Order: sequence, then structure tokens, then C-alpha cells
Amino acid sequence: MLKIDTTTSLNNGKEMPLFGLGVYQVEEKGDSCYNAVRWALDAGYRSIDTAKLYANESAVGRAVRDSGIPRDQVFVTTKLWNTDHGYDNTLKAYDKSLATLDLDYIDLYLVHYPVFGPRLETWKAMEEISQLSSCHAIGVSNYMPQHMNELLANCTIPPAVNQIELSPYNFKYRNEIVTLCRSNNIQLEAYCPLTRAKKLADPKLVVMAQKYGKTTAQILVRWALEEQIVVIPKSSNKGRIEENANVFDFEISKEDMETLNGFDEQLITSWDPTDAP
Ligand SMILES: NC(=O)c1ccc[n+]([C@@H]2O[C@H](COP(=O)([O-])OP(=O)(O)OC[C@H]3O[C@@H](n4cnc5c(N)ncnc54)[C@H](OP(=O)(O)O)[C@@H]3O)[C@@H](O)[C@H]2O)c1
Repeated sequence: MLKIDTTTSLNNGKEMPLFGLGVYQVEEKGDSCYNAVRWALDAGYRSIDTAKLYANESAVGRAVRDSGIPRDQVFVTTKLWNTDHGYDNTLKAYDKSLATLDLDYIDLYLVHYPVFGPRLETWKAMEEISQLSSCHAIGVSNYMPQHMNELLANCTIPPAVNQIELSPYNFKYRNEIVTLCRSNNIQLEAYCPLTRAKKLADPKLVVMAQKYGKTTAQILVRWALEEQIVVIPKSSNKGRIEENANVFDFEISKEDMETLNGFDEQLITSWDPTDAP
């Protein structure tokens, strides 16, 4: 049975929780982000996904430190922003994120987008960063087959993770990159797993949720877990943070997973990198 702190083994031997909290658009000011992370950790979350772009790394680090949970039991991800690509800039941006988080180490450092031009130089710096004791794993985000194939053909150290938008509403649309990552032992991580709330009232999802006595958000989180995909639903609301974590007392049947995977409508709620050079 999956538990809230169940981990997956990454291709560099490190463990990453399958479940975590995303904090995009959770404001640092007014303590929204600090509170969300504290509520999540209190509710049993053991992984937090931030980024330089989100401008809340400092609150994430402070909440992790204040939680009293041993540092090695919390997994912290942050990301390199697009304006920081290139070898030197990447090294500098990494140092800055580590200092802003004010943690001894970052569990996972991701390239946020496959910026055309400098991205292979960027990856050289990422490989160097991965050798530091302050960085436990490196990976990418928004990498589609063209970006991943280029990277795999040119890297020394492959990415441990590819974080992309995934839900039943786009899983088939993403079949090629899903298959490519799985066959190369690159862990998939689902962002916008709740479709940014756009599909939470979809009647066919509501029917499925009623069948299991769960909410539609919980079905979407559990769907990712059943697919062995790391999932990081975002909420800044205490009740919904707890609701999204309450998915470890049921399983979705194989048949219903197939039904869910039939919900595909190529829905992308964030930026779509499908045709990005
Ligand atoms: N790498 C990338 O390019 C990238 C892009 C996008 C996102 N991400 C990461 O993935 C995380 C998740 O994605 P996301 O934040 O874009 O979208 P999401 O998790 O799919 O959806 C978040 C939205 O759903 C609402 N919500 C959360 N739980 C709910 C529930 N139980 N019932 C009803 N509504 C609920 C939230 O509102 P409340 O806060 O009011 O509950 C918020 O409006 C981000 O926070 C970020 O860490 C990464």
C-alpha cells in the first residue's frame, strides 16, 4: 500500500517522495507560502516543489527549517529560470537559489524550460552542480522528445526527473515523452495534476469520484500515484492541502484507470512545449 511518504528510486540512487506540494503562485509576502508549507508538512507531505520564478524560495526554506522535521526527511526541489541559462549563469543561479532557500542542500535542481540555444551548455553546468554535496539530483522540466533526445545524446549524466504537465486529460497526448522517459529510467513528475481546477467539475470525473467516495481532486492525485508518477498538487488553503493528501486509503481499479486514461482531450493548462525548438 502506498503511503504519503512512499518514495521512488531515482536513476542516481536517491529517493524522491511520490507525493508533494507545489507552490507556484503561492505568495511569499503575507506568509501564504510559509503557512502552506507548514500546513503541508504537518499533514504529512515530505516534498515541496518551488522555483526561482515563484519568488518564494526563502519562505519554503524557512518553513522547512522551522518544521522541526529532520532535513533528510523533506525533499526540496527548485528550478533554474530561463534568463539564467548558459554555463556560468547556471552555476551562479544555483548558488543564489541555495542561499535564498538557506538550506544545506537542494534535493533536486531542475532546468525549468528547454531554452533553445544555450541548453546543452546549461546542462554541463548542471552536471557539475550534481557533483556538489549541496545538490542531490538534477533534472529537467518541460522537455519533450526533441529536447530529451538531444540531451541524452549529449550528456554524461542523464536527468533523474522530467517534470511536465500530466493528468488523465493529456496523458495520451504525452504518450511519446512518457514512453521515452520510462524506457530511459527518468522519473516522470506531474505538474498541474489538478488541471488548475479546470476539470474538477467534469461530470465523468464526478461520477468516478462518487464511486470511490472521494473528491475529483483526490481521484486526479491518486491517478498519478497509480501510474508511478510523482505528483505535486498546489493549494494554499489548509483544508484543500489536507484533502489532496487524503489519497492513501484507497486504490483505483485497473479498469477505472483505463477509463480515466480515456479522458484525454489534449488539455494543456500551462505553456505547451510540444513544438518548442
Ligand atoms: N515546471 C513547470 O513549468 C511548472 C508549471 C506549472 C506548475 N508547476 C508546479 O506544479 C505545481 C502544481 O501545478 P499548478 O499549481 O499549476 O496547478 P494544479 O495543482 O493543477 O491546480 C492548482 C489549482 O487547484 C486549486 N485546488 C487545489 N486543490 C484543490 C481541491 N482539492 N479542490 C478544488 N480546487 C483545488 C488551487 O486553488 P487553492 O490554492 O485555492 O486551493 C489552484 O487554483 C505548481 O504549484 C508548481 O509547483 C510547474
